[in-house]
Amino acid sequence: MNSIGNVIIHLEETSSTNLYAQNLISSNKQAEGIIVLADFQSEGRGQGNNKWKSEKSSNLLMSLIVLPVFLTPVNQFYLNMAVCISVVRALEHVTGLVVNLKWPNDILINRKKISGILIQNSLGNNQINSSIIGIGINVNQKEFSEQLFHATSIAVETGKDFVIKDVLNVLIDNLRIFYYHLQNSKLEEIRKMYMNYLFGINEKVVMERKSGLKFTGILKGVSTTGELIIEENDNLQKYNHGEVRIVI
Ligand code: BTN
Repeated sequence: MNSIGNVIIHLEETSSTNLYAQNLISSNKQAEGIIVLADFQSEGRGQGNNKWKSEKSSNLLMSLIVLPVFLTPVNQFYLNMAVCISVVRALEHVTGLVVNLKWPNDILINRKKISGILIQNSLGNNQINSSIIGIGINVNQKEFSEQLFHATSIAVETGKDFVIKDVLNVLIDNLRIFYYHLQNSKLEEIRKMYMNYLFGINEKVVMERKSGLKFTGILKGVSTTGELIIEENDNLQKYNHGEVRIVI
């Protein structure tokens, strides 16, 4: 199908698996499909300027390298969607629970964040030359800092501990399937699935602007280029990632 996960580099500790993967791409042009897995990250990266903090050996921390040269930059949000769906499907399989995704790429169970995704694309020649897909899934961690009051884990939600490698294997199966969909231009299927899992779709949601100002609107969907579409006072508004966030 594709080479995703055929090679796994398992590190006890690293600064960030995304950074490790970045260095790997620079030194190895055959890096496609390699997964970098770590038990601990000293400088785990999140969206924006956020950090991704995770207890040692409790959670899944990984980065996958792919070379999606068949995708043009205008279609890069489809990669995002395919990865989100893979994580949602993997978590559904492992937990048996309802899993949602919060635009653009947070994964929720019971309105709490269980997984985050950080994708770093390298663009050029009107294509995506390489992509580092960083995924953090909270597996066995039971306590989170006060700032992360909206965080959860598989163990918290199911009452059971899991073997991290088992969760990884289910995730690899799903990443293979949905990356294969992308390779075969099944873009509309990917978009529809993303919309099906979208938290708040066709409902009134609370949004927050960068300034901290909160407002409400009806979540109508997400454009193919990744903007959030909100109906406010009978008008459709589009927002880029970073401009607003959905409050859970
Ligand atoms: C988010 O802010 O929600 C994205 C979090 C992404 C965290 C993962 S953990 C593995 C990979 N390495 C990193 O440094 N970040 C990603």
